[in-house]
Amino acid sequence: MNNLIVFAITNQKGGVGKTTTAINLGAALARAGKRVLLIDAGPQGSLTFDLGLQKPDELEITLATIMGNIIQDKAFDPREGILHHAEGIDFMPSNIELSGVEISLFNVMSREYVLKTYVDAVRKDYDYVLIDGMPSLGMMAINTLVTADSVIIPSQPSFLSAKGLDLLLRSVSRVKRSINQKLRIDGILLTMVDNRTNNAKDIILSLQQGIGQHIPILKAQIPHSVRASECSLYGKRIFAYDPRGKVAMAYEALAKEVMNIERAKTDRSRNDGIR
Ligand SMILES: Nc1ncnc2c1ncn2[C@@H]1O[C@H](COP(=O)(O)OP(=O)(O)OP(=O)(O)O)[C@@H](O)[C@H]1O
Ligand SMILES: [Mg+2]
Repeated sequence: MNNLIVFAITNQKGGVGKTTTAINLGAALARAGKRVLLIDAGPQGSLTFDLGLQKPDELEITLATIMGNIIQDKAFDPREGILHHAEGIDFMPSNIELSGVEISLFNVMSREYVLKTYVDAVRKDYDYVLIDGMPSLGMMAINTLVTADSVIIPSQPSFLSAKGLDLLLRSVSRVKRSINQKLRIDGILLTMVDNRTNNAKDIILSLQQGIGQHIPILKAQIPHSVRASECSLYGKRIFAYDPRGKVAMAYEALAKEVMNIERAKTDRSRNDGIR
């Protein structure tokens, strides 16, 4: 039996903390002893860059290479191209070539399943795969939702609105209805939260009473910290850069929370099986 859980870290809005969350949630899960693969699913290669590879465009093998092989029905080695970062996170890098692949997907049979084919090939090697999406709802985003078990939506509290999430939520329900029935939204993750102001607290309270009635808002909140933004400059996870800081603690708490959510789901489906 395989228990791999695939998270899509997604929001069509840019700059909300998707990449930061993929890296630090991934690092926190790895610290909890889990085998973690991060997938950079954006042609800017931001996750690749933030993990210390400052010239993603010079990489020989990236997600684009692998997806290209799958599209052309070529055999591929599932371990190929995976890079290893300190503290035990593996990652599949990306670069600008992914935008060419995304365009070519339109003429491909089963174009929604290309990323899933890849993840299925590495399935037995990992406990968690985290896919760092890009801020769009194109074919890569659909591939990501088709591959995922759970969606985490990072958002700054002040930019969060039902209207802003409408398109994303519609894509999630469409994929869920037609292709991937098991897809669930684990929740909205509040990022860059500045809890020093009353205003921020009021906003969060009204979100909990509004949008939170329809989509779960995760209990863990990621505070705003310049330390977090400095991390990407040095290619480190927050745990290496500021291990006792509030952002590291928050991602640690998030990892515990999502592991509990997933455990509860497994228990529920096991009980359903017994009945
Ligand atoms: N908790 C935080 N506190 C302060 N700055 C943060 C925090 N989290 C992320 N940042 C910074 O905010 C910027 C955007 O974060 P990030 O790249 O993770 O967002 P993104 O959603 O992946 O963006 P894109 O849509 O461009 O892919 C980065 O400069 C990052 O270092
Ligand atoms: Mg990003």
